[in-house]
Amino acid sequence: MAFGDLSPVTSDPVLALMGRFRADVRPRKMDLGVGVYRDPQGNTPVFAAVKAAEQHLAGAQSTKSYLGSEGDPEFVQLLAAEAFAWTGVAGLQTVGGTGALRLAADLLARSQPGRRIWLGTPTWPNHGPIFAASRLEVAIVDLLDPSTQQYRHDVFLHALGGAAAGDAVLLHGCCHNPTGVQPDLSFWEAAAEVIAARGLVPLVDIAYQGLGRGWLEDSAGLRLLARRVPRLLAAYSCDKNFGLYRDRVGALFVTGANPGETNLLLGHLVALARANYSMPPDHGAAVVHSILADADLGRSWRAELDGMRTRIRHLRAALARHGRIGAVDLGPLADGQGMFALLPLSVAQIDMLQSEHGIYMAHSGRINIAGLAEEQVDRFVDALTAVQHKNAA
Ligand SMILES: Cc1ncc(COP(=O)(O)O)c(C=O)c1O
Repeated sequence: MAFGDLSPVTSDPVLALMGRFRADVRPRKMDLGVGVYRDPQGNTPVFAAVKAAEQHLAGAQSTKSYLGSEGDPEFVQLLAAEAFAWTGVAGLQTVGGTGALRLAADLLARSQPGRRIWLGTPTWPNHGPIFAASRLEVAIVDLLDPSTQQYRHDVFLHALGGAAAGDAVLLHGCCHNPTGVQPDLSFWEAAAEVIAARGLVPLVDIAYQGLGRGWLEDSAGLRLLARRVPRLLAAYSCDKNFGLYRDRVGALFVTGANPGETNLLLGHLVALARANYSMPPDHGAAVVHSILADADLGRSWRAELDGMRTRIRHLRAALARHGRIGAVDLGPLADGQGMFALLPLSVAQIDMLQSEHGIYMAHSGRINIAGLAEEQVDRFVDALTAVQHKNAA
């Protein structure tokens, strides 16, 4: 049979969770599963600046003719200036952060067959499949200390001591998914040292800028790294911080050891994009371009983003005030960044949260903190207490 070697693919558990949540008729249900920002009413709103930019575009855009495979170069430069205070960096517009990661992985695999990429786990569940699809060898380092819920960055740095020259390293730029643990600059200093000393290529995945410590604070590690190492790839997503998820807005930035190498790498990335999807969709990037090019829209967008960050910080603090709930210590959530935290709950406890309390979360124990309204925090904590007692009984 033509496709006889294929075995069935299991569907994405988060999508199945979304379906069950929608079908649940309990009015006090809570969705902490899906990784999108939510306001206190549980909505994922369109930013006012995005609405205004879309209205302007609808009137002003005079053609839908093709762009090139690199997308809109002005969008790429405006984004680099805003996000990193960089000018004249090489990069191309991509199909979201995922598209940027895939192009980066294809480039890494194409330029050195059999190349490894070092990946600390737990991580975003799509990292492994993306790198495998590009035929990179994935070297996994388990970094979570389950007793403290801390992410052991020092273990990662130590493991990189065993990497071969040319190996790649995936680093989360900020707001780690799923742990929320964001290392400080001393980690980035140490990472830069190992990367430079061993001739490694960092691939920084930055998908949540502005939702952690602050706008430029969230790219500080990446900027430090870029100053210290000769080669770097940075996969950027605008889908969370502009609320453009389904419009698929991202960029891939690349620095080579010299301008000639940078140009060569960019040329290959453009060719890879061309052979894959020809060119990225325009609409979302055109919206981001309009916002970043207009002072008023830019201010409105940043104010809304700052509000989202503040809301997440308050929720983290409200959860952390409850301290230890059985085996789950909520205290460290106060120091975490971004929407996610990983709770050490068993699958049975997570299922019980869903069936008995209407609380939906991934079996990994990851919660999307933004899925909570502030008045739901106490009920969530009560449910955490209840499922642990019941499980122990
Ligand atoms: C860590 C991480 N990187 C990249 C992405 C991809 O984002 P996008 O939706 O722009 O493809 C996500 C999305 O959830 C993510 O969590």
